[in-house]
Amino acid sequence: MTNQRRILMTIALPYANGALHLGHLVEAIQADIWARLQRMSGVDCRFFCGSDAHGTPIMIKAKERGITPEQLVTEVRAEQLRDYDGFSISFDSFYTTHSPENEALAQLFFERLQARGDIFSKTIEQAYDDNAQMFLPDRFIKGTCPKCKAAEQYGDSCECCGATYSPAELIEPISVISGTKPIYKQTEHFFFDLPKYTEMLKNFFDHETLQPEVRNKLAEWFEAGLKPWDITRDAPYFGFNIPGTTDKFFYVWLDAPMGYIASSEYYAKKQGYDYLIDWHQESKTELYHFIGKDITYFHALFWPAVLSGGGFRVPTGIFVHGFLTINGQKMSKSRGTFVNAASYLKHLDPDYLRYYMAAKLTKHVEDIDLNLEDFVSRVNADLVGKVVNLASRNAGFIHKYFDGQLASHFIDETLWGKYLQAIPAIIADLQALDYAKAIRHIMELADLANQFVDHYKPWHLAKDETQLTLVQQVSTQSLNLFRILIGLLKPIVPGLAARSESFLACEPLALNNLSTPMLGVTIQPFTPLLARVTTESVQAILAEAQASASRA
Ligand code: 2FM
Ligand code: ZN
Repeated sequence: MTNQRRILMTIALPYANGALHLGHLVEAIQADIWARLQRMSGVDCRFFCGSDAHGTPIMIKAKERGITPEQLVTEVRAEQLRDYDGFSISFDSFYTTHSPENEALAQLFFERLQARGDIFSKTIEQAYDDNAQMFLPDRFIKGTCPKCKAAEQYGDSCECCGATYSPAELIEPISVISGTKPIYKQTEHFFFDLPKYTEMLKNFFDHETLQPEVRNKLAEWFEAGLKPWDITRDAPYFGFNIPGTTDKFFYVWLDAPMGYIASSEYYAKKQGYDYLIDWHQESKTELYHFIGKDITYFHALFWPAVLSGGGFRVPTGIFVHGFLTINGQKMSKSRGTFVNAASYLKHLDPDYLRYYMAAKLTKHVEDIDLNLEDFVSRVNADLVGKVVNLASRNAGFIHKYFDGQLASHFIDETLWGKYLQAIPAIIADLQALDYAKAIRHIMELADLANQFVDHYKPWHLAKDETQLTLVQQVSTQSLNLFRILIGLLKPIVPGLAARSESFLACEPLALNNLSTPMLGVTIQPFTPLLARVTTESVQAILAEAQASASRA
């Protein structure tokens, strides 16, 4: 047995009914940076995700396209995997909730919860489309808002005034599927007795480590009192059949988080270890879920309760982030700012977006804005202008005069000392998910390095042969400072980091070798490490978003 720290982490499973967009990438990038940081620190960190395959919208979409839901899910999952990969998201496994492992888990949990008396059934009234012969989820009913009278609002909430209500309160409701007025029909549903878990839920998170916004939300929910959770959906539904019934299915949100376990189980099987190492009640593995603020209730309340009742371990923590806005507004198809991940990748390097998002991300549950003008200037000024430039303006001297060989000394030990001193604080900020702060600090260091080069002016010194030793020392030190900057940025910009490691011909950068200087060794010839972002590429992406909006 080793004492190596072990972490299992996840991001929310994207629904398998559409392409990934930039909104999904906030979370994927935030979590991936953290995963890479853990691995650079020598932690055994495994990162899991998969497609969220079930539910009415997926069933309807498949029907519209004349394919089976299984076909739709297979197709979309492959696209999602391709796009995450395009953004260098380093999952250990990207699986699907429509899998045999997940079905067995859903059944196992249900049986265990039932045996504990945590499941009860109750007859409820539910909106029904008599024409389409199906019960209607709230989102499939539209009508006039009972509060502000705005037309065309969903059955659960109004986008104009923010009111929440039940679909029965809508004025002139219609089914989105057939355009007819829904009727109300009785049906028997299974409920999970969440209130039974109130005390357990109040105590299990280390509230010290929860983000204050999450802590406050939880307090509000406890204050209002927890309610039983309806885990049933009636046929027709794309999901797992509830044991002992023929026409009842588990609600997609019951088996979705079980997809985290199924994904790790699938991976464990391939790797030849028992997935329960990470999931049994006494597991020493730390478990973290990265999620958006809209699904906090599911992850902070339902999921830990279900895990605990099912005899599994509970999460160690959850990390909640806000939404993405583009140029200060919600991403919108009609405004042409609904950018798909694939469309971005056609035109731009993923590291640009990873860097920009990281520069905006804090440990708070705040929305982050992608301002496209700022995106271009920030990436060019910071990554290209301050960091890559440091290498490009020094590598030439080392090759031209010294055959690629670095000097055996630095010229400014004080500056080197400042860098070494700064490393722990920057790592701590990255660990705490305060990426914006870490990046500000890294760029301050980059400024110091550029001032150092400007002070010595190696291009000037090189004109005088007697000064060449000094040139070698200045450039050697600059490249070493560059190496530390790249090491600190490595979890954020893995592509740039990999190219830089090849150029420096150094060991893969890790936290335990970051402060070791490279002296007397030979580096590779410099090849461009990162091009500037052009406004034209950003315009091309927006044009694609606009074109796909007008096709829709
Ligand atoms: O909100 C969503 O997009 C869901 N598909 C997230 C599921 S997360 C997990 F619980 F599976
Ligand atoms: Zn309203």
